[in-house]
Amino acid sequence: MSKSGDAGVDFLHWVLPELGYRWEGFRKPRGQVLQRIHQRIRELDLQGFDEYALFLKKVPEEWNRLEDTLYVTISRFFRDRKLWDELSERILPDMVKNNAPSRAGIWSAGCCNGEEPYSIAIAADKSGILNSINIWASDKNPDLLERAKTGSYAVSSLKELSAGERSNYFSFDELHSEYVINPDIRKSVQFEVRNIRGSLPDPDDPFSLVFCRNLVFTYFDETAQLQFLSGIREILMDGGLVIVGSNETLPEGNGWKKVQGNLPLYMKTA
Ligand SMILES: C[S@@+](CC[C@H](N)C(=O)[O-])C[C@H]1O[C@@H](n2cnc3c(N)ncnc32)[C@H](O)[C@@H]1O
Repeated sequence: MSKSGDAGVDFLHWVLPELGYRWEGFRKPRGQVLQRIHQRIRELDLQGFDEYALFLKKVPEEWNRLEDTLYVTISRFFRDRKLWDELSERILPDMVKNNAPSRAGIWSAGCCNGEEPYSIAIAADKSGILNSINIWASDKNPDLLERAKTGSYAVSSLKELSAGERSNYFSFDELHSEYVINPDIRKSVQFEVRNIRGSLPDPDDPFSLVFCRNLVFTYFDETAQLQFLSGIREILMDGGLVIVGSNETLPEGNGWKKVQGNLPLYMKTA
Protein backbone atom coordinates (compact mmCIF):
# COMPACT_ATOMS: atom_id res chain seq x y z
CA MET A 1 0.00 0.00 0.00
CA SER A 2 1.43 3.41 -0.94
CA LYS A 3 1.97 6.09 1.73
CA SER A 4 -0.43 8.70 0.33
CA GLY A 5 -2.80 6.20 -1.26
CA ASP A 6 -1.69 7.53 -4.67
CA ALA A 7 1.23 5.70 -6.29
CA GLY A 8 1.98 8.63 -8.64
CA VAL A 9 2.20 11.12 -5.77
CA ASP A 10 4.48 8.77 -3.78
CA PHE A 11 6.66 8.36 -6.84
CA LEU A 12 7.02 12.14 -7.25
CA HIS A 13 7.80 12.51 -3.52
CA TRP A 14 10.70 10.12 -4.08
CA VAL A 15 12.14 11.31 -7.41
CA LEU A 16 11.74 15.10 -7.23
CA PRO A 17 14.21 15.74 -4.38
CA GLU A 18 16.62 13.21 -5.93
CA LEU A 19 16.71 15.45 -9.02
CA GLY A 20 16.83 18.80 -7.20
CA TYR A 21 13.14 19.73 -7.54
CA ARG A 22 10.45 20.62 -4.96
CA TRP A 23 7.30 18.57 -4.51
CA GLU A 24 5.40 21.72 -3.36
CA GLY A 25 5.87 23.25 -6.82
CA PHE A 26 4.57 20.21 -8.65
CA ARG A 27 1.71 19.43 -6.27
CA LYS A 28 -0.97 21.43 -8.12
CA PRO A 29 0.01 20.77 -11.76
CA ARG A 30 1.13 17.16 -11.08
CA GLY A 31 -1.48 15.75 -13.50
CA GLN A 32 0.38 16.80 -16.66
CA VAL A 33 3.73 15.52 -15.32
CA LEU A 34 2.27 12.18 -14.23
CA GLN A 35 0.68 11.78 -17.66
CA ARG A 36 4.12 12.05 -19.30
CA ILE A 37 5.61 9.58 -16.80
CA HIS A 38 2.74 7.13 -17.50
CA GLN A 39 3.53 7.42 -21.19
CA ARG A 40 7.20 6.63 -20.53
CA ILE A 41 6.19 3.63 -18.40
CA ARG A 42 4.05 2.36 -21.30
CA GLU A 43 6.93 2.87 -23.77
CA LEU A 44 9.13 0.70 -21.54
CA ASP A 45 6.37 -1.91 -21.27
CA LEU A 46 6.45 -1.76 -17.47
CA GLN A 47 3.55 -2.22 -15.06
CA GLY A 48 3.23 0.98 -13.07
CA PHE A 49 5.33 3.16 -10.76
CA ASP A 50 6.81 0.37 -8.61
CA GLU A 51 8.30 -1.37 -11.64
CA TYR A 52 9.50 1.99 -13.00
CA ALA A 53 11.21 2.70 -9.65
CA LEU A 54 13.05 -0.63 -9.90
CA PHE A 55 14.01 0.19 -13.50
CA LEU A 56 15.47 3.54 -12.37
CA LYS A 57 17.56 1.76 -9.76
CA LYS A 58 18.91 -0.65 -12.38
CA VAL A 59 19.40 1.80 -15.27
CA PRO A 60 20.91 5.09 -14.02
CA GLU A 61 20.70 6.77 -17.48
CA GLU A 62 16.92 6.60 -17.18
CA TRP A 63 17.02 9.44 -14.63
CA ASN A 64 17.81 11.82 -17.53
CA ARG A 65 14.74 10.60 -19.44
CA LEU A 66 12.66 11.03 -16.33
CA GLU A 67 13.93 14.58 -15.85
CA ASP A 68 12.80 15.40 -19.40
CA THR A 69 9.21 14.81 -18.25
CA LEU A 70 9.43 17.21 -15.30
CA TYR A 71 8.09 20.45 -16.69
CA VAL A 72 4.84 22.37 -16.60
CA THR A 73 3.49 24.26 -19.60
CA ILE A 74 1.03 26.75 -18.13
CA SER A 75 1.44 30.26 -19.55
CA ARG A 76 -0.51 33.07 -21.21
CA PHE A 77 -0.08 36.57 -22.62
CA PHE A 78 0.22 39.35 -20.03
CA ARG A 79 0.02 36.80 -17.21
CA ASP A 80 -0.35 38.92 -14.03
CA ARG A 81 -1.70 41.88 -15.91
CA LYS A 82 -0.70 44.61 -13.42
CA LEU A 83 2.98 43.85 -14.02
CA TRP A 84 2.64 44.41 -17.75
CA ASP A 85 0.99 47.80 -17.38
CA GLU A 86 3.86 48.89 -15.11
CA LEU A 87 6.37 47.55 -17.61
CA SER A 88 4.91 49.56 -20.52
CA GLU A 89 4.30 52.72 -18.54
CA ARG A 90 7.46 52.94 -16.45
CA ILE A 91 9.93 50.10 -16.18
CA LEU A 92 10.81 49.52 -19.85
CA PRO A 93 11.00 53.23 -20.84
CA ASP A 94 13.28 53.96 -17.83
CA MET A 95 15.47 51.00 -18.68
CA VAL A 96 15.89 52.12 -22.28
CA LYS A 97 16.73 55.66 -21.15
CA ASN A 98 19.40 54.35 -18.75
CA ASN A 99 20.95 52.15 -21.46
CA ALA A 100 20.92 54.67 -24.30
CA PRO A 101 22.47 54.69 -26.83
CA SER A 102 22.91 50.89 -26.46
CA ARG A 103 19.95 48.56 -26.71
CA ALA A 104 18.74 47.06 -23.42
CA GLY A 105 18.99 43.25 -23.33
CA ILE A 106 16.08 41.25 -21.90
CA TRP A 107 16.02 37.49 -21.36
CA SER A 108 12.99 35.28 -20.77
CA ALA A 109 14.18 32.06 -19.08
CA GLY A 110 11.65 29.23 -19.46
CA CYS A 111 9.52 30.94 -22.10
CA CYS A 112 7.14 28.02 -22.83
CA ASN A 113 5.24 28.64 -26.12
CA GLY A 114 6.51 32.22 -26.36
CA GLU A 115 3.66 33.98 -24.57
CA GLU A 116 6.07 35.74 -22.17
CA PRO A 117 8.70 37.08 -24.62
CA TYR A 118 6.01 38.17 -27.10
CA SER A 119 4.27 39.95 -24.20
CA ILE A 120 7.55 41.79 -23.56
CA ALA A 121 7.64 42.83 -27.23
CA ILE A 122 4.01 44.02 -27.13
CA ALA A 123 4.59 45.96 -23.88
CA ALA A 124 7.68 47.57 -25.45
CA ASP A 125 5.81 48.43 -28.64
CA LYS A 126 3.03 50.03 -26.61
CA SER A 127 5.61 52.36 -25.07
CA GLY A 128 7.30 52.99 -28.44
CA ILE A 129 10.63 51.44 -27.51
CA LEU A 130 10.57 48.06 -29.29
CA ASN A 131 13.52 49.11 -31.47
CA SER A 132 15.62 49.95 -28.40
CA ILE A 133 15.63 46.49 -26.84
CA ASN A 134 16.85 42.98 -27.70
CA ILE A 135 14.71 40.07 -26.52
CA TRP A 136 16.11 36.55 -26.08
CA ALA A 137 13.96 33.66 -24.94
CA SER A 138 14.86 30.10 -24.02
CA ASP A 139 13.26 26.88 -22.93
CA LYS A 140 14.65 23.41 -22.42
CA ASN A 141 11.91 21.87 -24.55
CA PRO A 142 12.53 22.22 -28.32
CA ASP A 143 8.92 21.28 -29.19
CA LEU A 144 7.60 24.25 -27.19
CA LEU A 145 10.04 26.55 -28.99
CA GLU A 146 8.95 25.31 -32.41
CA ARG A 147 5.39 26.21 -31.43
CA ALA A 148 6.58 29.56 -30.10
CA LYS A 149 8.15 30.37 -33.46
CA THR A 150 4.83 29.86 -35.27
CA GLY A 151 3.29 32.57 -33.08
CA SER A 152 -0.16 30.86 -33.15
CA TYR A 153 -2.29 30.74 -30.03
CA ALA A 154 -5.63 29.48 -28.75
CA VAL A 155 -8.15 32.12 -27.75
CA SER A 156 -7.67 31.26 -24.05
CA SER A 157 -3.98 32.35 -24.17
CA LEU A 158 -5.10 35.91 -24.90
CA LYS A 159 -7.71 36.27 -22.19
CA GLU A 160 -5.79 38.99 -20.29
CA LEU A 161 -5.46 41.20 -23.39
CA SER A 162 -7.86 44.01 -24.20
CA ALA A 163 -9.83 43.91 -27.47
CA GLY A 164 -7.57 46.70 -28.77
CA GLU A 165 -4.40 44.75 -27.96
CA ARG A 166 -5.79 41.67 -29.73
CA SER A 167 -6.63 43.56 -32.88
CA ASN A 168 -3.39 45.61 -32.89
CA TYR A 169 -1.02 42.68 -32.39
CA PHE A 170 -2.80 39.59 -33.80
CA SER A 171 -4.79 38.41 -36.77
CA PHE A 172 -7.41 35.71 -36.41
CA ASP A 173 -6.98 32.49 -38.40
CA GLU A 174 -10.60 31.40 -38.99
CA LEU A 175 -9.62 28.00 -40.32
CA HIS A 176 -7.74 26.93 -37.17
CA SER A 177 -9.59 29.20 -34.73
CA GLU A 178 -6.28 30.64 -33.57
CA TYR A 179 -4.77 34.06 -33.11
CA VAL A 180 -1.52 34.64 -35.04
CA ILE A 181 0.92 37.23 -33.79
CA ASN A 182 1.98 40.05 -36.13
CA PRO A 183 5.29 39.51 -37.96
CA ASP A 184 6.98 42.59 -36.42
CA ILE A 185 6.42 41.22 -32.93
CA ARG A 186 7.33 37.65 -33.95
CA LYS A 187 10.63 38.75 -35.51
CA SER A 188 11.65 40.77 -32.46
CA VAL A 189 12.29 37.65 -30.31
CA GLN A 190 15.27 35.32 -30.68
CA PHE A 191 14.56 31.83 -29.39
CA GLU A 192 17.11 29.23 -28.28
CA VAL A 193 16.94 25.80 -26.67
CA ARG A 194 18.63 25.96 -23.28
CA ASN A 195 18.41 23.98 -20.09
CA ILE A 196 19.10 26.59 -17.42
CA ARG A 197 20.23 23.89 -14.99
CA GLY A 198 23.10 23.17 -17.39
CA SER A 199 24.19 26.60 -18.57
CA LEU A 200 23.14 30.22 -18.78
CA PRO A 201 23.42 32.44 -21.87
CA ASP A 202 26.65 34.33 -22.53
CA PRO A 203 25.48 37.72 -23.86
CA ASP A 204 27.91 40.22 -25.44
CA ASP A 205 26.65 42.84 -22.98
CA PRO A 206 25.08 42.07 -19.60
CA PHE A 207 21.27 41.84 -19.56
CA SER A 208 19.24 44.71 -18.11
CA LEU A 209 16.28 42.51 -17.22
CA VAL A 210 15.71 38.79 -16.70
CA PHE A 211 12.26 37.21 -16.56
CA CYS A 212 12.31 34.04 -14.52
CA ARG A 213 8.68 33.47 -13.68
CA ASN A 214 7.01 30.29 -12.54
CA LEU A 215 10.08 28.12 -12.97
CA VAL A 216 13.17 28.28 -10.71
CA PHE A 217 11.44 29.63 -7.60
CA THR A 218 8.51 27.25 -7.86
CA TYR A 219 9.98 23.98 -9.09
CA PHE A 220 13.71 23.96 -8.22
CA ASP A 221 15.05 23.11 -4.76
CA GLU A 222 16.92 25.72 -2.73
CA THR A 223 20.39 24.62 -3.85
CA ALA A 224 19.38 24.92 -7.50
CA GLN A 225 17.74 28.31 -6.83
CA LEU A 226 20.91 29.71 -5.24
CA GLN A 227 23.04 28.30 -8.04
CA PHE A 228 20.81 29.98 -10.62
CA LEU A 229 20.92 33.30 -8.74
CA SER A 230 24.69 33.29 -8.50
CA GLY A 231 24.93 32.53 -12.24
CA ILE A 232 22.48 35.30 -13.07
CA ARG A 233 24.62 37.82 -11.18
CA GLU A 234 27.39 37.22 -13.73
CA ILE A 235 25.21 38.06 -16.74
CA LEU A 236 23.07 40.88 -15.33
CA MET A 237 24.29 44.47 -15.15
CA ASP A 238 24.63 46.21 -11.78
CA GLY A 239 21.21 47.63 -10.95
CA GLY A 240 19.66 45.10 -13.39
CA LEU A 241 16.29 43.56 -12.58
CA VAL A 242 14.88 40.07 -12.16
CA ILE A 243 11.14 39.50 -12.42
CA VAL A 244 9.70 36.39 -10.78
CA GLY A 245 6.15 35.00 -10.68
CA SER A 246 3.49 36.73 -8.58
CA ASN A 247 3.52 33.87 -6.03
CA GLU A 248 7.32 33.56 -5.91
CA THR A 249 9.95 35.23 -3.77
CA LEU A 250 13.73 35.34 -3.98
CA PRO A 251 15.70 34.16 -0.96
CA GLU A 252 16.52 37.33 1.04
CA GLY A 253 20.00 38.85 0.97
CA ASN A 254 22.62 37.36 -1.36
CA GLY A 255 22.93 40.71 -3.16
CA TRP A 256 19.28 41.11 -4.21
CA LYS A 257 16.93 43.87 -3.12
CA LYS A 258 13.15 43.79 -3.54
CA VAL A 259 12.09 46.87 -5.49
CA GLN A 260 9.49 48.82 -3.53
CA GLY A 261 5.85 48.23 -4.37
CA ASN A 262 3.69 45.18 -4.98
CA LEU A 263 5.48 43.84 -8.04
CA PRO A 264 7.66 40.67 -7.86
CA LEU A 265 10.69 42.68 -8.94
CA TYR A 266 14.25 42.39 -7.57
CA MET A 267 17.35 44.47 -8.22
CA LYS A 268 20.92 43.22 -8.31
CA THR A 269 22.92 45.14 -5.72
CA ALA A 270 26.66 45.23 -5.09
C1 LIG B 1 5.18 27.07 -16.04
S1 LIG B 1 6.05 27.49 -17.50
C2 LIG B 1 6.30 29.21 -17.24
C3 LIG B 1 6.25 30.01 -18.52
C4 LIG B 1 6.40 31.52 -18.34
N1 LIG B 1 7.68 31.86 -17.78
C5 LIG B 1 5.28 32.07 -17.50
O1 LIG B 1 5.49 32.42 -16.34
O2 LIG B 1 4.15 32.16 -17.99
C6 LIG B 1 7.68 26.81 -17.16
C7 LIG B 1 8.52 26.65 -18.41
O3 LIG B 1 9.87 26.40 -18.00
C8 LIG B 1 10.43 25.41 -18.85
N2 LIG B 1 11.53 24.75 -18.12
C9 LIG B 1 11.44 23.84 -17.14
N3 LIG B 1 12.66 23.47 -16.71
C10 LIG B 1 13.54 24.19 -17.45
C11 LIG B 1 14.96 24.24 -17.49
N4 LIG B 1 15.69 23.51 -16.67
N5 LIG B 1 15.54 25.07 -18.38
C12 LIG B 1 14.78 25.85 -19.21
N6 LIG B 1 13.44 25.83 -19.24
C13 LIG B 1 12.82 25.01 -18.36
C14 LIG B 1 9.28 24.49 -19.17
O4 LIG B 1 9.52 23.75 -20.36
C15 LIG B 1 8.12 25.46 -19.28
O5 LIG B 1 7.97 25.90 -20.60
